[in-house]
Amino acid sequence: MNTQHTAVDTVRPVLHYTARNTWLNDPNGLIFHDGLYHLYYQNNPLGSTWGNMSWGHATSEDLVLWTEQDVAIRVDAEEEIFSGSIVFDSYNTSSLGTPLQPPLIAIYTSAYTKESPLFGFQAQSLAYSIDGGFTWEKYANNPVLNRNSANFRDPKVFRYNTGTESFWVMVAVEAAEHTVVLYRSADLKSWQYLSSFGPANATGGIWECPDLFPLTLDGDPAKVKWVLSVNMNPGGPNGGSAGQYFVGDFDGKTFTSETTVVTGVKSQEQLESYQWLDWGRDYYAAVSFNDAPDGRRIMVGWMNNWDYAKETPTGPWRSQMALPREVELATVDGQPRLIQRPVVEISAHFGREPLLSCSATPIAEGTHPLEANGPVLLLEAEFTAGTATEFGFIVRKGATEGTRIGLSPVRGLISVDRTYSGQVDFHSTFPSIDTAPIVETGGKYTLTVAVDHYSVEVFTQGGEVSLAELIFPMAESAGVSIYSKGGTATLEKLRISAPTGLEPPR
Ligand code: FRU
Repeated sequence: MNTQHTAVDTVRPVLHYTARNTWLNDPNGLIFHDGLYHLYYQNNPLGSTWGNMSWGHATSEDLVLWTEQDVAIRVDAEEEIFSGSIVFDSYNTSSLGTPLQPPLIAIYTSAYTKESPLFGFQAQSLAYSIDGGFTWEKYANNPVLNRNSANFRDPKVFRYNTGTESFWVMVAVEAAEHTVVLYRSADLKSWQYLSSFGPANATGGIWECPDLFPLTLDGDPAKVKWVLSVNMNPGGPNGGSAGQYFVGDFDGKTFTSETTVVTGVKSQEQLESYQWLDWGRDYYAAVSFNDAPDGRRIMVGWMNNWDYAKETPTGPWRSQMALPREVELATVDGQPRLIQRPVVEISAHFGREPLLSCSATPIAEGTHPLEANGPVLLLEAEFTAGTATEFGFIVRKGATEGTRIGLSPVRGLISVDRTYSGQVDFHSTFPSIDTAPIVETGGKYTLTVAVDHYSVEVFTQGGEVSLAELIFPMAESAGVSIYSKGGTATLEKLRISAPTGLEPPR
């Protein structure tokens, strides 16, 4: 089943989840339950490219060290198991468990095959687990919600509490109509239509994998706002797949956005005025965990782009998850904006003693190799701009290749240049210089970069802007340089560290 571009036994990322020897795409059914984070995902159990869609499964205690488990829900003759979510039905509202053994319920999209009388439609179905998410049975009366639509998919279900009553809410998409549809249910089996949202803001591609969740604004418990995220393919700000979000209110029936700009205008300038979960080429299908402890909101995206996902040059595994991100909501220039950071658990796997650290160091014009090497690194930097027109790092640097991450105050941009990052010729749309708008915050430019075997994940503006990008350098390209163009800048702080004892998922 492996396609011709698959290299043999390529090293696996250590910070980013991969399935040992198969294909994966969207994260599904993210839930924290009984002390474990469960990551299910779109998986081809039989090969290294998209097909035979099933839910693969991995578990972790800390969102970093993952153990691959048996395939959770498998394709069968009549349906592929497309994306969806999992809830803990603690009151056994579905009657699919018992009061003493309440079930986990997966709500997934049945993508019917030619063998099915429902061929041509996508509808929502249930599966249940009474052993904590390791084995699953399909509900006998599937589907539970059918709109006779060919593009109705990706249900995210959560519990909504008004204070006086609580019920299940589903957000799903009518993908081709750029619309999120909302339903409610008492028992997860029978669903009542509530409302729909969209088209709004970016509509350059189909809408997929929505999510809806509350966050406090600026950490103030009295100010709760709701975030509606929706992924879109193609039409992202740097091309292909990307995710956008809206902030507003949800009253148990309707989501009202306060960040909708203009719909239907397709200029690049307009595209850049929308709110993006990530500006890089490789962050898609992002959704958040249900029931994360301590009120945390943690999102995971698929680190890829449908433009070239099926041809990335690795094997027998293909495709990886982005780092789990903690998301918060903060007021920026009077507007509510998502702030994202790699979860703190990741730092715990990096040595206490950095490979390199410094403060208040001028960066002379030019490119300067740093005394810090490694294929997997965490760079945390803070700059002040001097006369330089651009400054930043080159990572995974070898004799003839490197990935350039630059901040340009004069252009008001951050850029990730992967045109010389290593193997780029497996697809014409892969080599790219991707950009996102930035402004100086508090006189400083912050830059955090997680470097792994096949990716960089870049966070700037204190987490308001991020870019996730795949790269395919040679194993020995492991250098780091710092550079400044057109003048000098100052490195106010730098810390580069390497992980201790991290290995790919078992
Ligand atoms: C998003 C997506 C979903 C669908 C799944 C199929 O990447 O297209 O809409 O459920 O992938 O694998």
